[in-house]
Amino acid sequence: MSGADDTIEPAAAEPPWRQQLRAALGDLPAVRRRRLRSLAPAGAAALQPAAPEGATGARDEEASPPSPSPLLDLASNDYLGLSRDPSVLAAAGSELAASGLGAGASRLVSGTRPVHLQLEEALATWLGRERVLLFPSGFQANLAAVCALADRHTLVLADRLIHHSLLAGVRASGARLKRFAHNDPADLERLLLHEQRSRPEARLLVLCESLYSMEGSTPPLADLAALCARHGAPLLVDEAHALGVLGPGGRGLAHGIADVAIVSGTFGKAFGSGGAFLAGDALVGDWLLQSSGAFRYTTALAPPLAAGALAALGRIQVDPHAAISLLARSGRWRDALEAADWPRPPGEGPILSLRLGSDAAALAAQQRLEAAGLLALAIRPPTVPEGTARLRLVLRSGLPAGTLEKLLEALGPAPLPPPACR
Ligand SMILES: Cc1ncc(COP(=O)(O)O)c(C=O)c1O
Repeated sequence: MSGADDTIEPAAAEPPWRQQLRAALGDLPAVRRRRLRSLAPAGAAALQPAAPEGATGARDEEASPPSPSPLLDLASNDYLGLSRDPSVLAAAGSELAASGLGAGASRLVSGTRPVHLQLEEALATWLGRERVLLFPSGFQANLAAVCALADRHTLVLADRLIHHSLLAGVRASGARLKRFAHNDPADLERLLLHEQRSRPEARLLVLCESLYSMEGSTPPLADLAALCARHGAPLLVDEAHALGVLGPGGRGLAHGIADVAIVSGTFGKAFGSGGAFLAGDALVGDWLLQSSGAFRYTTALAPPLAAGALAALGRIQVDPHAAISLLARSGRWRDALEAADWPRPPGEGPILSLRLGSDAAALAAQQRLEAAGLLALAIRPPTVPEGTARLRLVLRSGLPAGTLEKLLEALGPAPLPPPACR
């Protein structure tokens, strides 16, 4: 690979499959190409590993020029800063010493450790659900959840902006898919009624998120759940971005809504580590345990991650103020952007989405911020719909004072006329 332009030089005689990949990559316009990003500024060596604090001698200081200061992170989903919380790190460290790094087998073979069972029980109690099962990632949990509740006889009705992992689940299940307008119960009802009239025998499944990661918006979840209950359709709510931050005590927005069949959550966001879970009633939990290949045929969540998640849950429970003040700060940032003539970012959580329209405008905004020492990513199609490229700003606990002022200055004047907000 040539570092300068990311093109991959062809080998002398290439088999057709490689030629096809090359042609497909060649079709990607420059503004759609992805780069692996770190908190290093663009000029610094890409993905240069950070030396641990206090480490010496890891790099040849003579040979390499001093690296520019790292960018201030307005992009990651570590909303509460728990990835570096001392009690979370200590819990993961003791479990590492006690159980080793990996579980060594799937949960149903010999991979289950006491910490897995403790975490499942603690989450079930916290969320008020009967059963919780852990998964190695949220992507896998979502895939498992959809496959557990849908097959080729099912019509899945999904919010138009649903996460890719849920769509992957729909494809894997063989179900048909229809999309309803974003956060729009009336449109969902229209589709439910149409399906029940035309195919009364079809099984149904409805999918939504409680905090959309590229929009910052939240649905009227109680309305969606009531609608699903009236039509006998199970509702799966992905709470990946809401857990720890939204809902009573950070329990998510599905908390207390009994008509939600499955809640999916990940430890990769506010919990500050990695891994995930599905929560539901005893029947759904048992069905997942008995039927889910994505649960059964995978190595159990690494025990240190389970211990870290358990400790993170403890932090969230004892310090609900962290989420409350993060939401208050998110409100102040929305107010300030609006006062500076930017369209008010939708929602109330820590994800602030600034619509810019074209890919080029979003990339230019990302670069302006980077020049000011801030990392916030331009989100472009196909991650978001065509013509809705945006800058995704993510707030977290512990941002230094003055960050908002720095951001507003780096953004410059709001574009005129302001892009329409959906
Ligand atoms: C809405 C949503 N669901 C699921 C996932 C997947 O979670 P994980 O990172 O644990 O695989 C993500 C993460 O990108 C997400 O944003």
